[in-house]
Amino acid sequence: MIQNDLFLRAHLGQPIERYPVWLMRQAGRILPEYRAVRSKLSGFKELVETPEFATEVSIQPVDLLGVDAAIIFSDILVIPEAMGLPYQMIENKGPWFENTIRSQAQFDLLDAQIDVADRLWYVFEALKQTKLALNGRVPLIGFAGAPWTILCYMVEGKGSKTFSESRKLLYTQPKLAHQLLERITEVTIEYLKGQLASGADALQLFDSWAGILGQEQYEEFGLSYIEKICQAFEGIPFTVFSKGAVASLAQISNLSCSTIGLDWNMSMTMARSLVKESKTLQGNLDPCALYGSSDSIIKETKNLLNSFKSPRHIVNLGHGVYPDIDPEKVKIFINTVKNYEISNI
Ligand code: CP3
Repeated sequence: MIQNDLFLRAHLGQPIERYPVWLMRQAGRILPEYRAVRSKLSGFKELVETPEFATEVSIQPVDLLGVDAAIIFSDILVIPEAMGLPYQMIENKGPWFENTIRSQAQFDLLDAQIDVADRLWYVFEALKQTKLALNGRVPLIGFAGAPWTILCYMVEGKGSKTFSESRKLLYTQPKLAHQLLERITEVTIEYLKGQLASGADALQLFDSWAGILGQEQYEEFGLSYIEKICQAFEGIPFTVFSKGAVASLAQISNLSCSTIGLDWNMSMTMARSLVKESKTLQGNLDPCALYGSSDSIIKETKNLLNSFKSPRHIVNLGHGVYPDIDPEKVKIFINTVKNYEISNI
């Protein structure tokens, strides 16, 4: 039994007393308590791969910020690594892969059959320990990267402004792209099933690079694989966050998921006109709004809440919280949502 299950009820369209709120990237550098744990370790990967530490930082935002859901501390890049493409997280620079997948020969070097439970044991163990530590206070979110975004890192080998190597592949070797997306999709389904079995109450797919594809390309190389994943989890609270894909919102609305994550490009009113009433919307305050004064944060948050016309909302930012945001400002955002009168809906 979960004491505060507002987040799960909002996913499924059940009655709620107030809107639930959490933040993408809440388990991370905004909290001095996170930085304290992290500074004792060799690096980001040790934190991800040590269930005791991952548990500690997953719980921190629940205790310190009062969010309505915990998200497991991990990264989307554990999947390429489990498939045979290890990465490093370079301080102040981001991810870096020694090998990339830009040819059939490189694809053939990936591990053909992998035991997900064996390779990603540390994520499953962290979920089990976090579930115990939460003691039913709030739901626990599991996650993965969407296949297109994972392909981007496997092809590029690092972050990029344009991901032009990845987009090039779609024109030069579309069959290879489909083969890779298919493989990522299979592993991701098994991985998310393992997360549910280990205690996750809800799931989210992060498609951070959805917005760099044309609409038709996103349908072919993005949404078709996301739909395969959604179909494996029907009935489970499941969010698809396709960042920047406003042009595809009507197609995204047809996915077999309960909830659609939105960035701040589109107003909630406009988004709702394109998305079915039977879907929950998550988002979408501009993360930069939290740099504003307390009064400005309260005003912006209330404007967002006033734009909701149904109970099918989960409040969040439109992307991950930026690391230099003052946690006190985050609390103002959270408390504004918590104090908002539900009679307005
Ligand atoms: O949301 C949470 O609090 C849970 C933890 C979480 C992390 N990464 C921890 C992290 C989640 C959900 C992610 C998802 C993720 N990882 C995405 C999708 C969301 C998005 O932001 O678009 C992507 C694209 C990645 C890949 C990744 N991980 C990059 C590009 C980087 C470097 C840039 C950066 O933010 O530093 C990371 C590192 C990372 N993942 C950090 C954290 C807390 C910072 C590393 C550190 O603590 O030193």
